[in-house]
Amino acid sequence: MSKPIYVLNGPNLNLLGVREPEIYGHDTLSDIETRCRTLLEGTDHGLVFRQSNHEGELVDWIQEARTEACALIINPAAYTHTSVALHDALKALGVPIIECHLSNPHARESFRHHSYVSLAANGVIAGFGAIGYELAIRAVLSLVK
Ligand code: DQA
Repeated sequence: MSKPIYVLNGPNLNLLGVREPEIYGHDTLSDIETRCRTLLEGTDHGLVFRQSNHEGELVDWIQEARTEACALIINPAAYTHTSVALHDALKALGVPIIECHLSNPHARESFRHHSYVSLAANGVIAGFGAIGYELAIRAVLSLVK
């Protein structure tokens, strides 16, 4: 069995499904986790899927992924645009990193146009809603095989 894929989710993503559904869609985070697990059925990869509203907890999990994960998918939510701490933790990671957003931040307010995370990521998937997580899993599978 290969190491699991880590999928980390940042602040307010626990509210998916009820939070601005016209922007973020109607799927809950639990629905998205199910999509990811279904996609990984029959592969050699497990899934660690987590959400936190706390920057330091996300940093701890990224550090954990250094030894425990084969790759990391992260939707840093608002921390995308603010967090040097997440950037630094990701730079130290050493496994493939996919940045994933439900919406397309570049088509929104200007404060969402800069990402500290993109500087450390292998690639970015944004604007496809919940399906973006499945695209990110597919990207990881092609990077780690
Ligand atoms: C988001 C985009 C961010 O700008 C925002 O702060 C979020 C969600 C997305 O998935 O579209 O909370 O990361």
